[in-house]
Amino acid sequence: MSGFPAPPSFPVGGTAVVIGATGGIGAAFASALCREPAFARVVALSRSSVPALDLTDEASVAAAAASLDGAEVRLVIDATGFLHDAEHMPERSWRQLEAAHMAKAFALNAIGPALLMKHFLPRLPRSGKAVFAALSAKVGSIGDNSMGGWYSYRASKAALNQLVRTAAIKLARLRPDAVCVALHPGTVDTPHSAPFAKAGLDVRGPAEAAAQMLAVIDALTSAQNGAFLDYRGHSLPW
Ligand SMILES: NC(=O)c1ccc[n+]([C@@H]2O[C@H](COP(=O)([O-])OP(=O)(O)OC[C@H]3O[C@@H](n4cnc5c(N)ncnc54)[C@H](OP(=O)(O)O)[C@@H]3O)[C@@H](O)[C@H]2O)c1
Repeated sequence: MSGFPAPPSFPVGGTAVVIGATGGIGAAFASALCREPAFARVVALSRSSVPALDLTDEASVAAAAASLDGAEVRLVIDATGFLHDAEHMPERSWRQLEAAHMAKAFALNAIGPALLMKHFLPRLPRSGKAVFAALSAKVGSIGDNSMGGWYSYRASKAALNQLVRTAAIKLARLRPDAVCVALHPGTVDTPHSAPFAKAGLDVRGPAEAAAQMLAVIDALTSAQNGAFLDYRGHSLPW
């Protein structure tokens, strides 16, 4: 499944970078991008790549970005994220709020992606289309929050959205053709969503989700810099 129509909107021959390429959606992005003629090279980064990139270790983020020296980086997709682990499940009540859980969510969903912006945005070319897309989540929308719960995840994704928006304003001054966006993938069948993918939800496979988001990315123009969009390209409320 491919996302880009021909001809692609990106200048041909650049490098695409997927961060979190071991994840369900990240792996699907990496394999779809390898089939896209618009990109001469796809760099798949993760905690187990060479070089390794760990969001909690800024030196590793800087070294992974430096490994792209000389590359024409046209597309960076941040497909990392944290919702639950063996110790922490999303909170249903404020009684379950716990500092360590919140700190991990903010470290992985907001601070880590901010460090990615710090080290990867300056690598985008000065002219021609280039995109930095951070995978966010609709539950990070404050305006759309009618259910409550999931405090750490919601708040850390809301922080990510604000960081994307803030970086986009600076990016517009430095790289007028570039676009920095937050993307909501919808519910996708990965380890991230597995405990919550109940019957009745529209759960899509990672390949389908990646193809849909690549179509959104291909259609992006600089007028959408700083936007928060879903996998259909529709704007989401902040
Ligand atoms: N799946 C859904 O239904 C859904 C819905 C809404 C939003 N999203 C968002 O989409 C994104 C991707 O989700 P997914 O479903 O593909 O999740 P996933 O399969 O759990 O993948 C998460 C990725 O994050 C990486 N990661 C975790 N901690 C890291 C760290 N310290 N440093 C670097 N990378 C780290 C993981 O790497 P390791 O392999 O090294 O652990 C993995 O590549 C996330 O931002 C998520 O919030 C997903």
